[in-house]
Amino acid sequence: MTIFSVQSTIFTRASVAILSSNGLNRFSFASSFSSSPLPKTKKRRFPIVSAVDIGGVTVARNDVVRDDDPTNNVPDSIFSKLGMQLHRRDKHPIGILKNAIYDYFDSNYAKQFEKFEDLSPIVTTKQNFDDVLVPADHVSRSLNDTYYVDSQTVLRCHTSAHQAELLREGHRRFLVTGDVYRRDSIDSTHYPVFHQMEGFCVFSPGDWNESGKDSTLYAAEDLKKCLEGLASHLFGGVEMRWVDTYFPFTEPSFELEIYFKEDWLEVLGCGVTEQRILKQSGLENNVAWAFGLGLERLAMVLFDIPDIRLFWSDDERFTSQFKKGELGVKFKPFSKYPPCYKDISFWISESFTENNFCEVVRGIAGDLVEEVKLIDSFTNKKGMTSHCYRIVFRSMERSLTDEEVNDLQSKVRDEVQRKLNVELR
Ligand code: DAH
Repeated sequence: MTIFSVQSTIFTRASVAILSSNGLNRFSFASSFSSSPLPKTKKRRFPIVSAVDIGGVTVARNDVVRDDDPTNNVPDSIFSKLGMQLHRRDKHPIGILKNAIYDYFDSNYAKQFEKFEDLSPIVTTKQNFDDVLVPADHVSRSLNDTYYVDSQTVLRCHTSAHQAELLREGHRRFLVTGDVYRRDSIDSTHYPVFHQMEGFCVFSPGDWNESGKDSTLYAAEDLKKCLEGLASHLFGGVEMRWVDTYFPFTEPSFELEIYFKEDWLEVLGCGVTEQRILKQSGLENNVAWAFGLGLERLAMVLFDIPDIRLFWSDDERFTSQFKKGELGVKFKPFSKYPPCYKDISFWISESFTENNFCEVVRGIAGDLVEEVKLIDSFTNKKGMTSHCYRIVFRSMERSLTDEEVNDLQSKVRDEVQRKLNVELR
């Protein structure tokens, strides 16, 4: 189930704003905590990588993918993405966009913002949740939503995980870019790994005293001015609006939306940092603002990229279209190969969740799965609930054969039955 929109934030409260991961809002407080046993999928389609390099540190597969720990829910497909750091590739849309945001900060705030883009995505639950005041029963802490390495270690689900440690280390103004990980549904705008940039800016009494404004108002106005400038830098003269929202780490909290292709599109979440967070680092006399934005979502709009899986493609027809420093070159789709639809119906058990199902499908089909959609659901007289999902298989690089798709579907049927405690119909 989707908790945010095109992966960017997860953390708002309004019951309407249950958007999902690659969108911004996951930190919504609408849904109750859902606990679910994890599917332990064997990733047959993925060559098993035995170690990855994350910013010069070698991380072994066995440290992250653990069959012996019931809390561990990291599949090989996710492990293999660790250390890929698409945001550090200058000719990749994600890297080009990151650099364009850097340019904005460099030209408007010369040398004020330090840049971090190589912090390990393997963090403690304290960093990811407690330090930024995410409540103990928040849905984002569940095994259904977050990848756990063990009960106290996760793959960060947002770059906010680094706010507190950087403050404690003495940094006051910074940008943190990195890959973030969320268990989620499958469609053209959701992928379990995506990229975020976090911005953080601390002010001292001298800054707001001069203005005659109250510190919170001062920070909120400065934040809005900064982000409106950023949106104009990236999108040109677009229409924008601010929407009040909720995040555990900020008060007040806002989302910035831009009017794009006849619709309002949420581009980032932000706000004035909760005093408790500053206090933890001895900054009780200060005020700060923070923001978090999803790079895929912005890049899909700026470069006209129709499917989030493309960011991970090595196909030259994709990679050759982008040049260092060229923001907003429109992607020319190469031929779309035909989709292949397969339906699967089963009686679900109480522990069933759509995220678990999607992970099984991804574990088998990898990037050959384009979408998983619930197309029918009913409960019979005995109280048994049936779900029917339509799986859309489509490669972005070639035509799939019937045989190949049938084989994938039959593996999905086997594995779903074995791992998810459901009864096929
Ligand atoms: N961490 C939030 C998310 O992933 C995004 C965010 C919102 C970051 C507000 C912030 C902030 O720093 O102030 O959903």
